[in-house]
Amino acid sequence: MMRRFPLEKFQNLDTPFYFYDMALLESTIKTIKRLIKDKPYHIHYAVKANGNPTIMKAIAAHGLGADLVSGGEIQAAINAGFKPEKMVYSGVGKTDREINLGLEHNIFCFNVESIPELSVISDLALKRGVVANVSIRVNPDIDAHTHRYITTGTAENKFGISVEMLVDAVKTAKRLPNIRLRGLHFHVGSQLTSMKPYAMLCDSVNGLLDYFDRLGISFEMINVGGGLGIDYDKPDVIPIADFEHFFDTFARNLKLRKNQQLHFELGRSIVAQCGSLIARVIYVKENRDKKFVIVDAGMTDLIRPALYQAHHVIQNLSAGGPGVETYDVVGPICESSDVFGVNEVLPVCHRGDFIALRSAGAYGESMASAYNMRPLPKAYFQK
Ligand code: LLP
Repeated sequence: MMRRFPLEKFQNLDTPFYFYDMALLESTIKTIKRLIKDKPYHIHYAVKANGNPTIMKAIAAHGLGADLVSGGEIQAAINAGFKPEKMVYSGVGKTDREINLGLEHNIFCFNVESIPELSVISDLALKRGVVANVSIRVNPDIDAHTHRYITTGTAENKFGISVEMLVDAVKTAKRLPNIRLRGLHFHVGSQLTSMKPYAMLCDSVNGLLDYFDRLGISFEMINVGGGLGIDYDKPDVIPIADFEHFFDTFARNLKLRKNQQLHFELGRSIVAQCGSLIARVIYVKENRDKKFVIVDAGMTDLIRPALYQAHHVIQNLSAGGPGVETYDVVGPICESSDVFGVNEVLPVCHRGDFIALRSAGAYGESMASAYNMRPLPKAYFQK
């Protein structure tokens, strides 16, 4: 069944805009909460996936934590009602001002990505007379076989501390007086549709925990990051990601120690399917070999196709007749990469038709830009 959109409501709105299905967001979060109910698992929503205040508030209201990557995100998470004691903060380049903001709110954890960062956090905490909670981000050197721009856990990558330097980092953290070391943090990549990289991650974590046991070092928590993929091809058939298989992979493979807590940082899998980018057809244009549908949304509104060669399902919501045509669906931006789909078979398109780009709730609105001096897309919500 194809999702129905309230076209009568769209008539009076300026396109392009993001349109969010809040009921789907609710059922996605409820699914997650049901699956982890009896487990020592904690979810931090990765705000980078979608920082829209209405979306953030809806997620915070369910008691989820937040995974943040900048001072701006820390502030937005506080404004949306996320609790500082459930905030984790990652990033290879945290500035003093951002670290101070985290310290001021006494966030649950800084995910520390280098030894120099550890000493800066310790110094800043000392100056304020507080103790900073940290995890050390380990680069597990696992190839997640995802797009090279969104793989993060391989050795040549800028993220985390390599396993070889980990003992050094852990010992440094233990020695620094204004640091409380809570655990280890990992993240293998994004849009992972196979559970294999997660099973491999569990093996590496088990090995590391055994190793640290022998050194007499234990951790109160492990954070395995995010990355669970969604089905971009079938947004209506599989609107909720396979959280069951995901959590089960950790339950079966990871040997958590007594009282040890497991944390996740999920972004895309929570918000991707609840959002669509809605555009209007401006022109249908025919060149010698091609027919183009030119829409009023572009790579400035949804950059994923241009940046990662991602494909979002394209629908003509206004289509009346039975005929179809093959089109390239493109935006108005002055860049050749401003293409949403090549050889898309769509019901015959006309000027003014509404077009939906599906599964755009994650890394859509949050990555929008004002390139070509375009206004940022607006957002509307369906309860
Ligand atoms: N934790 C860390 C440390 C991360 O780097 C990320 C994403 C997440 C959690 C959340 O990952 P998720 O569950 O959303 O996969 N803009 C790209 C995705 C970039 C992901 C960056 N890191 C895209 O549109 O595909």
